[in-house]
Amino acid sequence: MRSPFDDGELYDWEYRRRRADVQFYRTLADERDGPVLDIGCGTGRLMLPLLRDGHVVVGADRAPAMLDRAAARVRRLGIAGRRRALLMRADLRALPLAPRFAFAVAAFHTVQHCETDADLLRFFRGAEAALVPGGWLAFDTFAPEKRFLDRRGRSGQTRFRDPRTGRPTMYSESHRVETGPDGPILAMTFHYQPLDTRDRPQGRGRNLSLRHRLVQPAEIQSLLVRAGLALVATWGGFDGRPLVPGDGQTEQHVYLAQRPPAQRPDVPSPQRL
Ligand SMILES: C[S@@+](CC[C@H](N)C(=O)[O-])C[C@H]1O[C@@H](n2cnc3c(N)ncnc32)[C@H](O)[C@@H]1O
Repeated sequence: MRSPFDDGELYDWEYRRRRADVQFYRTLADERDGPVLDIGCGTGRLMLPLLRDGHVVVGADRAPAMLDRAAARVRRLGIAGRRRALLMRADLRALPLAPRFAFAVAAFHTVQHCETDADLLRFFRGAEAALVPGGWLAFDTFAPEKRFLDRRGRSGQTRFRDPRTGRPTMYSESHRVETGPDGPILAMTFHYQPLDTRDRPQGRGRNLSLRHRLVQPAEIQSLLVRAGLALVATWGGFDGRPLVPGDGQTEQHVYLAQRPPAQRPDVPSPQRL
């Protein structure tokens, strides 16, 4: 089954109204002085606003279709914006980057593509190695309520016009929870069924598959510590509400971690000698 990251145009159309996370991460980036690393940058949904804000941004992703679309958007920027942008194809579990970045961000559930503790640890270690001392890593996870997880069959049926084919199409979603090596995995399928002029199914539909590890705050915290990062803040959404694990109210968990600032060497000053 194909992945949603094979079709950047559809991705951008579906998430065109998802703005709160972009605004949130722009605010964090503005508080840091230095280049930004956008890990799993996708089509540049966040990277482009960061570039327009004046940041130097390196975007890394492994999906060629997403990177192509990000590159096309970067090309449409003015010369100054283009010069501040660099896109690279990389696996987030093996980031090959030196410590240059003041702020790294993995937006929109990107870390949940790491299905095992070992992969999450590789990701956190690579991010830590890319941060300057004191640099920040921000990311978020999807933490669906039990009500959503227990749902069976298809839901979220929405009729829309496919931006690529121009055809009316019915979207729906189904999922199941699988047992992964280190915790539950949410295996989602997005169904797209083209319709005729009377809204009857016409022709073959297509299914896209997406898997997310359902990872708990305590697991995140312990892996961050093992990677040499300190958890400095959490939120239960992009409006700043607190993260209260298990309260059934928060579907977005947002994390801010920091590479510890460099210690000043405790060298006695000449006056103290
Ligand atoms: C939900 S999208 C988020 C994209 C972008 N950050 C945003 O906010 O729109 C997740 C992104 O992670 C990328 N991704 C998934 N697994 C990856 C991996 N192992 N290495 C690099 N990128 C990965 C996908 O290609 C996709 O672009």
